[in-house]
Amino acid sequence: DGFDLLVINGLVVTASDTANYDIAIKDGKIALLAPPGVLGTSSAKRVIDAEGGYVMPGGIDCHVHLEEPALFGGKGRSSDNFETGTRSSICGGTTTIVAFAPQAKTIPSLLQVLEDTQARAKDNCYTDYSFHMLVGHPGEQALSEFPRLRELGISSLKIYMTYAALQLRDDQILDVLLASRKEGITTMIHAENGDVLTWMTKKLEERKLYAPKYHATSRPQIVETEATNRAIALAELMDAPILVVHVSSPSAAAHLRNAQTRGLPVYAETCPQYLFLTQADLDKPGFEGAKCVCSPPPRESAHDHDAIWIGLANGTFTVLSSDHCPFMYEDYEKGKKSIISEEYPEGRFSGIPNGCPGIETRLALTLSANRLPLQKFVEVTSTNAARLYGLYPQKGTILPGVSDADLTIWYPPGKLGTFKLTNSMLHHNVDYTPFEGMELNQWPRYTILRGEVVWDRDGGGLLGKKGYGKFVARGKSTLPGPRQAGEWDVSVF
Ligand code: URP
Ligand code: ZN
Ligand code: ZN
Ligand code: ZN
Repeated sequence: DGFDLLVINGLVVTASDTANYDIAIKDGKIALLAPPGVLGTSSAKRVIDAEGGYVMPGGIDCHVHLEEPALFGGKGRSSDNFETGTRSSICGGTTTIVAFAPQAKTIPSLLQVLEDTQARAKDNCYTDYSFHMLVGHPGEQALSEFPRLRELGISSLKIYMTYAALQLRDDQILDVLLASRKEGITTMIHAENGDVLTWMTKKLEERKLYAPKYHATSRPQIVETEATNRAIALAELMDAPILVVHVSSPSAAAHLRNAQTRGLPVYAETCPQYLFLTQADLDKPGFEGAKCVCSPPPRESAHDHDAIWIGLANGTFTVLSSDHCPFMYEDYEKGKKSIISEEYPEGRFSGIPNGCPGIETRLALTLSANRLPLQKFVEVTSTNAARLYGLYPQKGTILPGVSDADLTIWYPPGKLGTFKLTNSMLHHNVDYTPFEGMELNQWPRYTILRGEVVWDRDGGGLLGKKGYGKFVARGKSTLPGPRQAGEWDVSVF
C-alpha cells in the first residue's frame, strides 16, 4: 500500500538530533525515518526533495491573540480572525497555534468563554489549534470549572498583573495558582506592575508627553522586573508551575534564571520583538512608532537583545513565541481614525492598542539571525511548547508511529540569498509589520500539516484549506511540575 509522502535529502533537525534522513509519511503520521536512499522513491505517492535543506518539526506558536475583544487598553479591534491569523501562520511555517479564550471581568463562566471561542475557531483554521484560558475573573464559578476544563483538553491559562480590564490582585493570583496546581494546569503570567505604570502614564500625560516613545518611558524595566519577582514569589508560595510570558528585560530574566537555579518550576517566554526591536523604533517620524508598541516595550539597546539571546541559548527561556496581537495601523471607526479625538488630535501613547503582529515572521526572522544552535532553535520554537502545554509527542517532534506529520522544510542554506522583509509578503490582515525592511536569508519552502502540503512557496504558495485545522485536546505538561517540597504542605489549603 506504500506511503503517502516521502521527504528525501533533508537535514533532519529535532531538539535532540541532527542527521540526514528520509522521512516517510502515511495517514497523516510520521511512519518512519530511514537513512538516505534506502526507501526508494517508488514507495510513495509523492516525493519532496529537500535538496539538503533543514527539515524540522512544524513550528508551534503558543502565544497568539485572534479575534479577541479589546481588553489590553488603547483603541482598536483585533484585525485577524481565526481564518486570517492561521493562514498567516502556515505561510510562515507554524502548524499549530495555541490562542487565547478571553474571559472579561463581567463573565463568570470560563466554560462559556471556551465554548464561544471554540465556535469562532471551528471550521475556520488552517493550522491545528488549542486554547489557553485568559482568566480575567477568577471567581468561585470560574475556579470550580478547572477540572472540567482539563477534561476538555485545556491545560493552561494566562493571568495579568496589568491592564485595568484584566489585572488581578495578589490574592486573586494565589487563588488561580492554587486551583491550577491541583488540576495540573500551567499558569502563564503577564508580569508588569499595573499600578506603577498607570501612575507613570498619568504623570507623563500631565506633562502632555503623548508621543508613542513615552509608552516605553511609562514602563521601564523595573516595572517588569518587580512583577516578575513577585510572580515567582507567589508561585513558590503555592508550589505551582508558572511561565512568565513575553519577557523583555535582562533583569527580569536574571530573576527567572535564579528561580530555576533554585529548582522551582518557573518557565519563561520571549518573543522576536525583544530580539529585534528597540525603544528607538517607538520614536519614528509622526505616529509611526505606534507600530512597535507592545507590552512590555522593546528595550533600550543591542545589549538587552544580547542578554535575551543568551537566555534562549542557556535555557532560561523555554519558548520563543510571537505574541501575535493584530491591529490595523490605519484603524477607523465610523470614518474617524480611532486613535484621534478632539482632546488628543495627534493621538496619545496610552490610546495605542498594545501588541504587534508576528505569527508569520517568528521562525524566519529567528533562523535568519543565525544566533542559536539549530537544535535549540527547534526546541524553543516547537518542541518545548509541545512539552510545556501537553502536546508532546503528538506535536513538536517526529517520532515514527506517534507524531503527526507536521514539518517545516527550509531552503538549502544560501539558496535564497538575502532579501528584505516587506508587509506585502505576509498573509495576515494587518497593514504593517514592525519588522519591515529587516534582512532575511531564510523562509519556509514547504509547510506540511498532518501529511498535507499546506504551503509551497515556489509551487502556488498557500495550498492549505480553511477548516483543515483541527482542535487538539491537550494533556498535562511533561516538564517538571510542583516540587512537593515547599516550606509547608500546600495541600492544607
Ligand atoms: O502588548 C502586548 N503584549 N499585547 C498583547 C497582549 C498581551 O498582554 O499579551
Ligand atoms: Zn462574578
Ligand atoms: Zn501579556
Ligand atoms: Zn499576548
